[in-house]
Amino acid sequence: MSTLLEVRDVKTYFYTMKGVVKAVDGISFKLNKGEVLGIAGESGCGKSTLAYTIMRLVPPPGKIVGGEIIMEGKNILKLSEEEFRKQYRWKKISMVFQGAMNALNPVYTVGFQIAEAIMYHEGLSKREAMARVYKLLQLVGIDPKRAHSYPHELSGGMKQRVMIAMALALNPPLVIADEPTTALDVVVQAQVMNVLKKLQRELKMSIIMITHDLSLIAEIADKIAVLYAGKLVEFGTAEQIFLNPQHPYTRGLINSIPRLRGDIKKLEWIPGLPPDLSNPPPGCRFHPRCKYRMDICSKEEPPVVEVEPGHYVACWLHAKK
Ligand SMILES: Nc1ncnc2c1ncn2[C@@H]1O[C@H](COP(=O)(O)OP(=O)(O)O)[C@@H](O)[C@H]1O
Ligand SMILES: [Mg+2]
Repeated sequence: MSTLLEVRDVKTYFYTMKGVVKAVDGISFKLNKGEVLGIAGESGCGKSTLAYTIMRLVPPPGKIVGGEIIMEGKNILKLSEEEFRKQYRWKKISMVFQGAMNALNPVYTVGFQIAEAIMYHEGLSKREAMARVYKLLQLVGIDPKRAHSYPHELSGGMKQRVMIAMALALNPPLVIADEPTTALDVVVQAQVMNVLKKLQRELKMSIIMITHDLSLIAEIADKIAVLYAGKLVEFGTAEQIFLNPQHPYTRGLINSIPRLRGDIKKLEWIPGLPPDLSNPPPGCRFHPRCKYRMDICSKEEPPVVEVEPGHYVACWLHAKK
């Protein structure tokens, strides 16, 4: 499988009145063509900031301060804004934003809103663009007639699928979906996930699926990256992460998934909260919450170690000093 995107030691900081918030602090991973990468972690660990970094849409006072993002042999962080906007953003990398369905404009039909993006980027006529809109709606499981509906006439799940259709409008090889189902009820969540899964299979695109809920990506993800406090703590195939999790934080996340069958076990969640990223703990950022912490954990940052082929962990339990 060939690499579509490589993120190398990327750092994105917010320069706030309170200090520098190190939201993404040296994250690296590779994404293959046609693969679904799940990015999981509690709220506030830098998931959305990482997505905005890849889209080069980090809002002020945020800045990408380090690292490289390689696509098609090019460091896309080095391109001028104009080059990136013309060749990459929406065309090669698109995004479904967190809470996006509420960003639809209430005064235009949803079909028009998708068509407008297509006309703008590809210079098609309205008729040609609408033909594509009908196909896109069908693709995400919405009756094409709904193109003529206004946002308030659609359910939450439908609006979210409209946002997915919009992200697909220019047929990009990579779509980033940032918590695409968080605002939806469980049944609709499953429908939206199924749409994404089907699209990925049919269009052979790559998806970065961001979630705070690991259980949501169990079925769809090929690879999983677990983020904690701006750092990548574990990376592997979905199987490796679910069947053989190595980082205490990953184990905590997995143990927090309620089980329907088997022993009734007390929900084991990780005590405490993620740290303030303007003043993260020294050493391993997870050490204040970790029941396995050793002396070294509060002193030095753990290196990333490959514990089995393709399975990486940043934890002193696995590293030698
Ligand atoms: N616009 C901003 N200004 C200042 N800090 C921000 C901004 N956006 C995000 N942050 C901070 O960056 C950190 C990571 O946030 P975010 O990427 O939204 O996390 P997640 O998506 O995992 O919940 C948090 O500490 C958050 O407060
Ligand atoms: Mg977020």
